[in-house]
Order: sequence, then C-alpha cells, then structure tokens
Amino acid sequence: MATELRQQVRMVSSIDEMRKISKSFHGATLGFVPTMGYLHDGHMSLVKQSLKLCDHTIVSIFVNPRQFGPNEDLDVYPHDLEGDIEKLEMAGVDVVFHPNSKTIYPDGFKTHVQVDEITQRLCGNSRPRFFKGVATVVLKLFNIIRPQHVFFGEKDWQQLAVVEALVRDLNLDISVHRVPLVREPDGLAMSSRNRNLSPEERTKALSLSKSLQNAKDQIRQGITSANQLRESMKKIISAESGTQIDYISICDPTSLQEKEVVKGRTLIALAVKIGPARLIDNCIVED
Ligand code: PAF
Repeated sequence: MATELRQQVRMVSSIDEMRKISKSFHGATLGFVPTMGYLHDGHMSLVKQSLKLCDHTIVSIFVNPRQFGPNEDLDVYPHDLEGDIEKLEMAGVDVVFHPNSKTIYPDGFKTHVQVDEITQRLCGNSRPRFFKGVATVVLKLFNIIRPQHVFFGEKDWQQLAVVEALVRDLNLDISVHRVPLVREPDGLAMSSRNRNLSPEERTKALSLSKSLQNAKDQIRQGITSANQLRESMKKIISAESGTQIDYISICDPTSLQEKEVVKGRTLIALAVKIGPARLIDNCIVED
C-alpha cells in the first residue's frame, strides 16, 4: 500500500535537464541536499529538514573525485544507488541529480574555488585538496540547481564553515542550514565510511565519541587547559591498537583558530584513521 502512495523520484543526470526542472519550480521554494550517496540517517535528517522547509527538494549523489587526494579512498568509497533512491523516494524527494564525472568535469576544466584560512586548519593539513574540491563542486551544484535553501550536517563542521564562507564571500543568494550530527545508538557518528570498518575496527572507532565525552566531562569538572584535554583524548584513542590520530583540535567554532584554554563556545574536533577509514567527529562545549 505504502509503495503505491510513494511518489516516484525523478532521476536526472544531465545539467540541461536539471536546469529545466529547477526553472519549472519557479515561484516555489527549492531545497538542496548535496551528498556523495550511501545515504544514512545523518543524510536523511538533512533531507527531512529540506522537505519540512521547502516546497521541492533535490538531492545530488555525486562522488566528487576532486576532493580526494591520490592516496585517499575514492576507489573504495561505498555506493548503493538503488538503496539511496528507495530511501529518497520513501522520504518524498522530488529529484535526484546523479551526474557522472565527465558531466561535472568535462575535458579542459580548469576553474577552482579556494576559500582561504579556515581551509588550512584541521582537515586541511592532511587533506590539502579536499576543501578546494568541495568548494568547487558545491558552487557548481548550486549554480546548476539554483536552490534558495541548502542543508549541511554539523558532522563536517569545517566543511560547513567553508560553505558558509563561500556563500557569504561570493554573495550567493542562498540560506545555508546547519543540521546537527546524528549518532548510532552506541555513540559512533554516522558516516558512509563506517561501512568500510570491520566489526573490530568499528568497536575501536567508538574511542572517538568516548574521547569527546571525556573532554566534556573534564570541562564540566573545571579543566580548561586545551593541552590537558587533548592529552586525555589521545590516551583514550591510542589505547585502541591500530588507531592513528590525524588531529585533535580545540578551537574557535567560527575561525577554527586553536585555543589554549577552553573559554566561551569551543569546538572540539578530531580525525582518526582506523583501518581503511579516516573518521571525523566533533562536539561543541561551553566553559
Ligand atoms: O559532505 C559530502 O558528502 C561532500 O563533501 C559534498 C558536500 C557532497 C561535496 O562533494
């Protein structure tokens, strides 16, 4: 019965067709959720926000090669297009934009978008191509789809800051909506990359959220030294063999500048490599 009531999602792979559809929504509010597919409840919370706020919702599924470095996991990035379409159809999404790489990056492509400063920090240190690739593809998708509202998850806190800077600095007429991070019942932040973890690695991955929880508890007890908090977090993560900490940052949530002391609103963010996956997590704390 439910399937009969389901509205068929429209699959679009060409830019021209996508543009035509977007234009046909003229006068209505258009929400857009960019994704790389393999959708989980974290993505679906973005989609739900868009469906709630907007008359029409478009989701893109595009694994953007330009945001992966040469030794990163582009080749093993998980896919499940059929599963994704089913989820989006059930949710009531109007259109899925699923272009191929040549459509987005035809031969001769040579323009990139660079957001300065905030991209040099945190993930920018070990993933120097990442934010340039994200900013470029996101701007292209915004230009193709022309949404008034876009939805990004706070799980990728730095990415969100980059998108906000891009929208502000280039005067894009778009509202960026922040959607809270979604966790599994045991605390693991939802990520498509969790799929690439073995059961043993998945257990080790819980050390990320545990270390954040530990930092929160310590701050509640009055510890505000960033060094001390970082050391305790390191201990929790390093207690799991095979974990490789990329960074633990205790910083200002807007400028992403490191803090020595937790004072005022503070972002604690970390990236850790476990097996084939590089996982990120974060939380906001107040002193
Ligand atoms: O967060 C992601 O999945 C990607 O970085 C995004 C925003 C879809 C750009 O490729």
